[in-house]
Amino acid sequence: MTDDGDLRQAIRTIPDYPKPGIMFRDITTLLGDARAFRRAVDQLVHPYAGAKIDKVAGIEARGFILGGAVAHQLSAGFVPIRKKGKLPHQTVRMAYALEYGTDEMEIHVDAIRPGEKVILVDDLIATGGTAEGAVKLLRQIGADVVAACFIIDLPELGGAARLRAMGLPVRALMAFD
Ligand code: PRP
Ligand code: ADE
Repeated sequence: MTDDGDLRQAIRTIPDYPKPGIMFRDITTLLGDARAFRRAVDQLVHPYAGAKIDKVAGIEARGFILGGAVAHQLSAGFVPIRKKGKLPHQTVRMAYALEYGTDEMEIHVDAIRPGEKVILVDDLIATGGTAEGAVKLLRQIGADVVAACFIIDLPELGGAARLRAMGLPVRALMAFD
């Protein structure tokens, strides 16, 4: 973990959103702060500088913002993993549960060529339901998922441990209780 006080200060916490009892970690304040946004993307990218990463996969919606920036920095392609019904071509679909609900996500069947090296990027990992579903989809279409990267980990919810149990290195820039 590369905990960075400035980055942590850039995250806003909203209690009881979207449901009572949830401490919502809001990254819009970080995204709106040019220095913090650049620093977060630089820190996400740093371990892969010089590595051959073919694609960055981002999870709708917040993972698109970060994943797009990371893909650009790594000169890699970007692959969107979207909530159901949004992708126009043939997809594979996965149901998943997250900290405050359930949903279904999809990826285009031809988004990755078999064996391509992929990094998964999202803003936050809580229970890991979303990221686990995304890794399963990526593996289903033949990706070699080399790591999953997040700005925020909520370790008490066990998501990072869940991904590591799938054999995946997990990185987060900071943790919140
Ligand atoms: C949030 C967040 C992660 C997910 C993490 O997305 O961006 O994708 O929850 O939760 P989990 O580890 O418990 O699965 P959300 O589904 O709220 O979608 P959004 O990005 O469209 O706001
Ligand atoms: N996604 C799942 N849990 C979350 C939380 N506590 N804050 C922001 N996004 C989340």
